[in-house]
Amino acid sequence: MTPLRDLSLEQLRAHAVKTFRRGGGSRPDVLLVRLNGEQAVLKDYSQADPWFRRLVGPLSVRREARALKQLAGARGVPRLLRVVNRDALLMEYIPGTSAREVPPGGLTPPFFERLYRLVDRLHEFGVAHCDLRSEGNILVGADGEPHAVDFTAHFRRGRRWNPLSRWMYEKFCEADRVAVARLKKSHAPDLLTDAERQALARDRKTWLERTARFIGKSVRHISRWLLTRPGKSGRGRD
Ligand SMILES: Nc1ncnc2c1ncn2[C@@H]1O[C@H](COP(=O)(O)OP(=O)(O)O)[C@@H](O)[C@H]1O
Ligand SMILES: [Mg+2]
Repeated sequence: MTPLRDLSLEQLRAHAVKTFRRGGGSRPDVLLVRLNGEQAVLKDYSQADPWFRRLVGPLSVRREARALKQLAGARGVPRLLRVVNRDALLMEYIPGTSAREVPPGGLTPPFFERLYRLVDRLHEFGVAHCDLRSEGNILVGADGEPHAVDFTAHFRRGRRWNPLSRWMYEKFCEADRVAVARLKKSHAPDLLTDAERQALARDRKTWLERTARFIGKSVRHISRWLLTRPGKSGRGRD
């Protein structure tokens, strides 16, 4: 029988057993694919609006694949199984649930410790995630271990010494750590330490973060407006 790695995109889609996210608009389909006991997650932009599919899809697939390759071997990161084509990639399935679906109080002190360790590990491998504020990107594995997914927005540590990119990289690493504090604030505020409270307060205040967020939002809104048809799905938060 053909293993998942030999199937075409159409064949993979035909073996989808669960939809994590329905694509369309600017978004990919994120599907759980199963065949002969083998499981994997397919992230597929082929159903996004035409301009997004042509421009943003291939870029996002390449970016995410590059991050996953650089993180190969890092615990808490799904393995890249293969880039299927310019629209889609296939990665290891992490059984469990996303932090967004965990009810308040459901995340424990050891979980947060391990999540900080995971964030440090990403940075040791030279990758800042940059979108851990989105709770859907943090998974609680069936074994209780934290996992990070969705590396489309990542920022890599440059190979050559470049003060500007090094500075930006450090800022994004700090933003990843603050995202853990934010998750704690929303799920278990009693666990926040003084240092985390201060980091959250600083985060609200820095003009850099505010400007970056403003630019990010504007670019997203303008590109969605330009590249997608009105009234389509997939414009929700991630
Ligand atoms: N490797 C994976 N294993 C298990 N679930 C995953 C995996 N990748 C994504 N998911 C699920 O799919 C959801 C959407 O995936 P994500 O990569 O965040 O897509 P988007 O770019 O649309 O935010 C995640 O919130 C998570 O629930
Ligand atoms: Mg996401």
